[in-house]
Amino acid sequence: MKGTGWLIGGLVLVAVGVVGLLLLSTGILSGATVASTPMARGRWIFQTGTDPSGQPIPYLGGMMMRASCAGCHGVDGRGLRTMMFASPNISYRNLTDPAGFSEPDGTRGPTYTDDQIRRAVTQGLDPEGKPLDWPMPRWQLTDTEWTDLLAYLKTLP
Ligand code: HEC
Repeated sequence: MKGTGWLIGGLVLVAVGVVGLLLLSTGILSGATVASTPMARGRWIFQTGTDPSGQPIPYLGGMMMRASCAGCHGVDGRGLRTMMFASPNISYRNLTDPAGFSEPDGTRGPTYTDDQIRRAVTQGLDPEGKPLDWPMPRWQLTDTEWTDLLAYLKTLP
């Protein structure tokens, strides 16, 4: 039932976005309450696509509809299958797997280093320098935002 999987993927995508917006608009979560540690700030960026003060982090490419890492890679970062794309598991453990990272289709891709993960996120290039598929935005992260995000990716299962 491939069709159902896509539909569910799409619904999850929308749900994650809606929850994120609700949290932002109600002020239940604000950058100030989560900004205590690099890991917590990284989780904030991962879940909302905004900096700890709530400003959207600029990006190039990607899709017209704004989304966070969690919106496209799942709240646990393990990847999603939607109508438009299949996104990979972006846990640090998976990306840096010496055997090559596990792609959505189960094949193995290259092994990422920290710098190469940064380049993928900010410039949309894989370790071999090949452009990633278009849905993946090129995020304009500051140095601190990047180290925070990396700290969080390291905590993903
Ligand atoms: C609009 C959807 C979308 C958003 C938002 C998004 N990604 Fe992606 N990302 C993708 C897709 C699809 C791929 C797979 C691209 C490919 O296979 O070429 C990808 C690939 C990646 C890769 C490279 C893995 C590989 O395939 O080689 C990393 C690392 C990554 N994303 C991290 C992030 C982080 C961190 C964020 C948030 C700052 C984020 N992504 C936000 C869709 C998205």
